[in-house]
Amino acid sequence: MLHLQSFVVLLGVLLWACVGVYAKNVFNYEEQKNISRPYTIQVQRFLCIDTPYKETILHECRMIFRRNQRPLLNVSLEAPKKYNYLMIQFQMHYKFKKYQPFLIDIKAEGCDLMRDRKNDPTRHWLYGVMKDLMSSLVHRCPFGKRTYSGVFSVKEENAPRSIPAGEYRMDIIFTSQTNVTLFSMQLFFEARRRGILKSMLEW
Ligand SMILES: *[C@@H]1O[C@H](CO)[C@@H](O)[C@H](O)[C@H]1NC(C)=O
Ligand SMILES: *[C@@H]1O[C@H](CO)[C@@H](O)[C@H](O)[C@H]1NC(C)=O
Ligand SMILES: *[C@@H]1O[C@H](CO)[C@@H](O)[C@H](O)[C@H]1NC(C)=O
Repeated sequence: MLHLQSFVVLLGVLLWACVGVYAKNVFNYEEQKNISRPYTIQVQRFLCIDTPYKETILHECRMIFRRNQRPLLNVSLEAPKKYNYLMIQFQMHYKFKKYQPFLIDIKAEGCDLMRDRKNDPTRHWLYGVMKDLMSSLVHRCPFGKRTYSGVFSVKEENAPRSIPAGEYRMDIIFTSQTNVTLFSMQLFFEARRRGILKSMLEW
C-alpha cells in the first residue's frame, strides 16, 4: 500500500506536470494566473537566513503586516561584485510531521533563464514568479554591481493551480558559481481551502 506521504507527493508531482500539458502544450504563466485557485494563501513568516553573507550586504529583510491586506515583504540586497553566473533555487516544503520537499524543486542558472525559457513549464513558472515578485532581478547578464530592492506580496496566482491545504515553507536561494550564498530566504505560509470541502482528495 502506498504510504500517504508518498501518495501526496506523487499526486502533487502529477498535478504539477499536468499544468504544462493541459495549457495548450505550452505553459503560459500569465494565462494560469487568471484561473482562480481553490485555496487561499496566508503568509505567516518570512526570514532571510545564513546571514551575514560573504559577498552581499542585506540592508532590509522585513515583513510588514497590514490590516485586512496581504503582508508586504521588503527586501534590499546590495551586490557589489559582478556575476556572470547566478544559480537560482526554489524549493517548496510541505509540513507533514516536519517540513519535507514537496512539488516545487527548481534550479536554474539566471543568465540562461533570462535568455531562454526553453518551453519548459518550470522555467516559465520560475521566470514569471521572478518577474512578479523580484522584478529588479529580471534583467540580462551580468548580475550584481547594484542593489536589488523590492516590496512584494505573495498571491495565490503565483502558486500552482492546486495544492493541498496545510503548512508550507518556500526556500529561495541564490548562489554564485563558486557556491557562495548570495541570498537565502524562507517564506512560511499556510494554504487553506476555499469553501467547506476539507478532504485532501478533493483538492
Ligand atoms: C487575464 O485576465 C485579464 C483581465 O480579466 C485580461 O485582461 C488578460 O488578457 C488575461 N490574460 C490572459 C493571458 O489570458
Ligand atoms: C522598504 O525598506 C526600505 C529600506 O529600509 C525603505 O526605505 C522602504 O521605505 C521600505 N518600504 C516599505 C513599503 O516599507
Ligand atoms: C553548495 O554549498 C552548500 C552548503 O552551503 C552545499 O550543501 C551544496 O552541496 C554545495 N553545492 C555544490 C554544487 O557544491
